[in-house]
Amino acid sequence: MTDKSIESILTEQRQFPPGEDFAKAARYKQADLDAMYASAAQDHEAFWAGLARELLDWSTDFTQTLDASAAPNYRWFTDGELNVSANCLDSNLAERGDKTAIVFEGEGGDRRRLSYRELTADVCRFANALKAQGIEAGDRVVIYMPMVPEALIAMQACARIGAVHSVVFGGFSANSLRDRVIDAGARMVITADGGHRGGKIVELKAATDKALEEGCEHVDRVIVLKRADCGCAMQDGRDIWWSDAIAGQADSCEPVPLNAEHPLFLLYTSGSTGKPKGIQQASAGYLLYAKLTNQLIFDIQEDDVFWCTADVGWITGHTYVAYGPLAAGATIVMYEGAPTYPDGGRFWSICQKHGVTIFYTAPTAIRALMKLGDDIPAQYDLSKIRLLGTVGEPINPEAWIWYHEVIGGERCPIVDTWWQTETGGIMISPVPGVTATKPGSCTRPLPGIDADIVDEEGTPVDAPDQGGYLVIKKPWPSMLRTIWGDNDRYIETYWEKFQNRYYVAGDSARRDADGYFWIMGRIDDVLNISGHRLGTMEVESALVAHPRVAEAAVVGRPHEIKGEALFAYVVPKGDRPTGDDAAELAKVLRNWVGEELGPIAKPDDIRFADNLPKTRSGKIMRRLLRIIARGDEITQDVSTLENPAIIDQLRGDA
Ligand code: WT7
Repeated sequence: MTDKSIESILTEQRQFPPGEDFAKAARYKQADLDAMYASAAQDHEAFWAGLARELLDWSTDFTQTLDASAAPNYRWFTDGELNVSANCLDSNLAERGDKTAIVFEGEGGDRRRLSYRELTADVCRFANALKAQGIEAGDRVVIYMPMVPEALIAMQACARIGAVHSVVFGGFSANSLRDRVIDAGARMVITADGGHRGGKIVELKAATDKALEEGCEHVDRVIVLKRADCGCAMQDGRDIWWSDAIAGQADSCEPVPLNAEHPLFLLYTSGSTGKPKGIQQASAGYLLYAKLTNQLIFDIQEDDVFWCTADVGWITGHTYVAYGPLAAGATIVMYEGAPTYPDGGRFWSICQKHGVTIFYTAPTAIRALMKLGDDIPAQYDLSKIRLLGTVGEPINPEAWIWYHEVIGGERCPIVDTWWQTETGGIMISPVPGVTATKPGSCTRPLPGIDADIVDEEGTPVDAPDQGGYLVIKKPWPSMLRTIWGDNDRYIETYWEKFQNRYYVAGDSARRDADGYFWIMGRIDDVLNISGHRLGTMEVESALVAHPRVAEAAVVGRPHEIKGEALFAYVVPKGDRPTGDDAAELAKVLRNWVGEELGPIAKPDDIRFADNLPKTRSGKIMRRLLRIIARGDEITQDVSTLENPAIIDQLRGDA
């Protein structure tokens, strides 16, 4: 074992092959997948060109598949033309015009259904409204909305006329919105008076007004949807109601044929360091990959009802709500509100009510719902669900097993899907009718995705279970094209580490003896304890496996002798212990981790809290936890915290 390897000491032996019935009915069978791997291995470009022609409707066919002349700024299908919205809507009209495209449920219980025909008409009306407001191809439009159908309609309308949208998650503050509006140089903001979240109204228009107070002179129009009826100021000459903007607009709008590389959207990643990066996606490659992965990973078939719980403010809500499932002709569910409003059964009640067959959510949600107990999901009929998915962070085996048993009734495959905002779509994942799964592993790279694990020098790590850098060695169609306005940062962040040869994901991973990938966390979450590199996720997983632990986050703090010491924040099940009880439980847990993983993984410090600091998207704010673990002054903006009051507990002051 060299000091450059990232050691893995977590071993998970259980395996779950797909059920026979599932495998038989699945879109992609073993033979299909084998053929895809073989074809991609034989000719990477021809593989993607074939899929692009098979899956997409082009207005002009392409003659060049991949342009690598400006690598690592790769370009795909460079001289082809198509329209993304036409591929998501118009392409479905003949076959399934009356099929439900969107089933919407508001937090307050209001419901709507939109057929493909109705959705197309709504998108066209709004696209015409955008044009009437002077929006042209290439203009940037920021969308800051609640999770309602109009958010998706606005995105699709932009795509229809070639405007470049940048959706900003409605949970972000006015300041975050301002940064993104300025960076994108947006001409327009589309928002709502407010949205419903956790029984409260989030006043989006008020936040928009505040955001636009400074430095946003390039925004000359704000379109405002009336959603929450909470009243808001309207600025004369700048603001216009959605209903007024579409009044009198035709319900058809010719989709504009756009170059394959035309930017489809910018999406800012909430980077843990520095200012957010505007990840720029192109049209055709993104659409191709979105459609393909919806079919391949989610096995979308004609009668399915697909619910991906992500907000359209995140990449998951782009690829697996707003674009991919529609391109695949699916019925999707959209839900406006919080997963636990009015109670912890809301997700399951939606699944029951709308007959959800495919359910895709994040481990953080799974753990939160698991913590509420098995009797809640037991009250609902979840028997229609046939496939489950997770994304966003490594899922600890305990949560995986709970998901499998309690939600999936032990009959549903679970697809643990690894990808990133930058990759545009799922990269490493089981194919549900084919791949035997292992709890906690995202299994194998998809056909055409050349993922590998390399060491500090960029040499592939072939020995099983040795960790390293997760890299992608060949370009793929839905890769980010650049960081908006900062191509140097694009190259520096994703390519420079290995001399522009590989895309560097920033995650560490290991591969087991079966070739299965196990994501160990972000590179900067990897600790060096007494010369042993250790993924924090593995320690977290061990902690969560203890019956008294609901959730855990582990960070490093500097340690004189060991280099780094492990600092664990633990959310206990039941009441939070204090004083002697806390010391006693900490000792139990330290020993437990020692037993599970080995003595080097024993946390030096364990602190108990009622919950963990998370961003609005549910990601644990590790940087903040590291600062607290070191006892440093908190200078970072904590305004995006779900629960700012938690800081004192984490510091050990409460
Ligand atoms: C990072 C990307 C892509 C949608 C949501 C997050 C982590 C993502 C997994 C998974 C382990 C995962 C990685 C990745 N991640 N999926 N299945 N197993 N880790 O998008 O905000 O761009 O974050 O999320 O660390 O780099 P994102």
